[in-house]
Amino acid sequence: MSLTLIITLIILGFIVSSAVFFMLYLIFTKIYLKFRIVGTCPANLCLVGRTVIVTGANKGMGYWVAMDFAKRGAKVILACRNKTKGKEAVEKIQSETENKNVVFQSLNLASFKSIRAFVQEVKKNERRLDVLVNNAGVVRPNAVTEDGFHPTLQVNALGPFLLTILLIDLLKSTKHSRIVNVTTKEGSEHFDILEDLVDKSDSWFAYVRNYENSKKCLGLLMTSLSDKLQRHEVTVQFAVPRPCRTDLQIYENLPEFLKFFKRHIFITFLCLEANESAVNTVFTALDHQVGNFMCKYYRDCEQWDPGHQDTEVDTYLRKKIWWKCVEYVQLKPNEFSGLS
Ligand SMILES: NC(=O)c1ccc[n+]([C@@H]2O[C@H](COP(=O)([O-])OP(=O)(O)OC[C@H]3O[C@@H](n4cnc5c(N)ncnc54)[C@H](OP(=O)(O)O)[C@@H]3O)[C@@H](O)[C@H]2O)c1
Repeated sequence: MSLTLIITLIILGFIVSSAVFFMLYLIFTKIYLKFRIVGTCPANLCLVGRTVIVTGANKGMGYWVAMDFAKRGAKVILACRNKTKGKEAVEKIQSETENKNVVFQSLNLASFKSIRAFVQEVKKNERRLDVLVNNAGVVRPNAVTEDGFHPTLQVNALGPFLLTILLIDLLKSTKHSRIVNVTTKEGSEHFDILEDLVDKSDSWFAYVRNYENSKKCLGLLMTSLSDKLQRHEVTVQFAVPRPCRTDLQIYENLPEFLKFFKRHIFITFLCLEANESAVNTVFTALDHQVGNFMCKYYRDCEQWDPGHQDTEVDTYLRKKIWWKCVEYVQLKPNEFSGLS
């Protein structure tokens, strides 16, 4: 056998065995994820008499979170921006769960006006709010909302911030209430002002960067809020779902060869279904133990370390971002005076 043939066989053997190992890795990861997630949310917890709001509940994970709360008997407010889609989701949830206390209410997080109208309606109709799930999230190309911000930043951070602060009195007056923020791996960049957060190019990298930075901004704001809620019975938590198959366009702008990888490898093997990933959000909202802690991250239905260091820089940044955002979302002093 010639030397060239031997080398060719060795290289071929290496390629084939690597491919086999890679396939086995993907298959085992998929099996691991399926068994790890499903069936670990608090079973048999009845929510009759409780009220919950889920933003972006007409599809994706939000829909399944709302479905779970409805099955437990809660009054569920589906806060969605599209009336037709929101009402369709309400009908499906009502017929599946036989809970008629599931309602649609219009909320567009890309508009401060819409958020204020939503809150006014909630305060008119509700006497309590047990859980607010800030679930809605987007990845949008460069544009400007009616309030003058990048849509990814406004829908993922500024909007939920304004919504939460305006609902804080209702949450505070309800015993053991919880704010759950659905997030992801946060950006690790250091920034001083919100403009630093936004990359205005249309590259796929900018999509991901803006998305992760908006989640970091939400994380900083909600951590500050939880500090201000220490004396109250409201806890702030973060749910970090495993990647799942939804309409979130995070990798939409990828180059063609990466799109192939995304479709055939990432989505097939490394993503769960939306209903499976939603279990972690339900766990974060309802688990009894979660209520004993303040401002923790949860993944796979257990506490998770997001890898932040609570340095002096972060504390400084938190304060700065808080006051900037108070200004950006045009909060009036009397609307957050109970928090200082
Ligand atoms: N999918 C994942 O792998 C993954 C991983 C980690 C974290 N997350 C987070 O999980 C959350 C849910 O995402 P998903 O994957 O379920 O996404 P999705 O299927 O795209 O659902 C997003 C929801 O947000 C709503 N929404 C978008 N813009 C809105 C606005 N301006 N005002 C109010 N609602 C708005 C959408 O409504 P329309 O139908 O009207 O657009 C939809 O109901 C997001 O916060 C996301 O960042 C997702």
